[in-house]
Amino acid sequence: MSYAERTKTSRELFEKAKKYIPGGASYSLRYFEPYPFYVKKAKGSRIWDVDDNEYLDFWMVHFAAIFGHGYEPIINAIKEQLDYGAHFGWCNEWEVKWAEAVCNWFNAEKVKPANSGTEANMYAVRLARAYTGRKKIGKMEGGWHGGFNGLHRAVNYPYEKSSSLGLVEEENVVPLPFNDLEDTIRRAKEEDLAGIILEPVLGATGIIPANEDYLKGLREFCDKRNIVLIFDEVITGFRYPGGMQSYYKVKPDLTTLGKAVGGQYFAGAGGICGTSEIMDLLDQIKKPNFWERSFHGGTYVGNALTMRAGYVTINELERKKDEVYPYINSLGEYGRKRIEEILKENKFEAYVTGVLSMIGLHFTKEKPINGVTVERTKNKEISRKMFSYMLQKGIVYQRPETPHFAISTAHTKDDIERLTKEFEEFLKEIKE
Ligand SMILES: Cc1ncc(COP(=O)(O)O)c(C=O)c1O
Repeated sequence: MSYAERTKTSRELFEKAKKYIPGGASYSLRYFEPYPFYVKKAKGSRIWDVDDNEYLDFWMVHFAAIFGHGYEPIINAIKEQLDYGAHFGWCNEWEVKWAEAVCNWFNAEKVKPANSGTEANMYAVRLARAYTGRKKIGKMEGGWHGGFNGLHRAVNYPYEKSSSLGLVEEENVVPLPFNDLEDTIRRAKEEDLAGIILEPVLGATGIIPANEDYLKGLREFCDKRNIVLIFDEVITGFRYPGGMQSYYKVKPDLTTLGKAVGGQYFAGAGGICGTSEIMDLLDQIKKPNFWERSFHGGTYVGNALTMRAGYVTINELERKKDEVYPYINSLGEYGRKRIEEILKENKFEAYVTGVLSMIGLHFTKEKPINGVTVERTKNKEISRKMFSYMLQKGIVYQRPETPHFAISTAHTKDDIERLTKEFEEFLKEIKE
């Protein structure tokens, strides 16, 4: 049966959605052609749409669900919490437990919760400015930190184009080339930077890991110039014990968090952690006058539901780290290796990227090492065809033009086999 025949209810929902929601989808990223399926339930590595079609999911709640969908220790804790109340508008014990768990995980001195990864980055940028008294922030071409003005530049290729209508402040954002230390330093030296923010593994650009030397060089450069180095670990923070900063052994001054830090499934997933020296600029006791302080807050920030879910997630990861990480990382490694072998056997030009439990696939003519090399020779048509092919086979991931795959503890080797076998079939089909 074709997608259209199988997804009649989704199509009806989409028609209705278009009347009320611009583009018919809660987040334009979730739209794909001809129309998105609407999910009814999810468990483990599977999701089911409103027409009861099952899909093998490699998107995993935007890479948040390291334990897969509907992970019981989190869901059970949340059910219990709902009986007490989701949010009180007052301090609660879970924010304290959560804060201790986050600081221990990242070896950070202080942390504050935020309502999203976007919000965490917004406050981190402001903190860098507050700390240094400077305005400009360096960010990577292709780096994604959420939709707020302060970092919404050089997100989409071509990077010279404005990434959105309605932006202000673009002149204070300085795009830098990921993994090219010489050029990064050359460009950064021309500006008076308050901070440099980057994902240690570019996420939305298709899982491009940093070279260790790049991160070490950036750290040195920032130290020399008293620039605040910020790692956006919204995706990566819990993909390795202690985050990618622990994997690469490079310590940022501030780390921004989201997704798993709020329990995988819940709004309010965000946080900023780092040194007391910088974080204390948020301290209303040490800095009683608002003009000496950098603002942070929000109605739903630190709500008991998210804090508890985040705490349970971190606790579970800490408790089970000796099983969780070897397992999901070995599936990632296996997937990358198989896709590479299949490309070689079929003499097909494409590149596999990624690290640990994250896989990227790039139909490019050059090795993708940063935003420009991911984008400039990309064959979007093949990428989109692959997405449609996989959708037809009941395998889903994001994004149609930049395939990347998140592996959770709920995935099995069979799931990876299924993905790679279908990939092989797809290559055969397009070669014919
Ligand atoms: C690296 C990174 N930073 C920030 C964000 C923004 O987080 P949120 O969507 O929770 O606002 C995302 C979201 O995908 C992300 O991948």
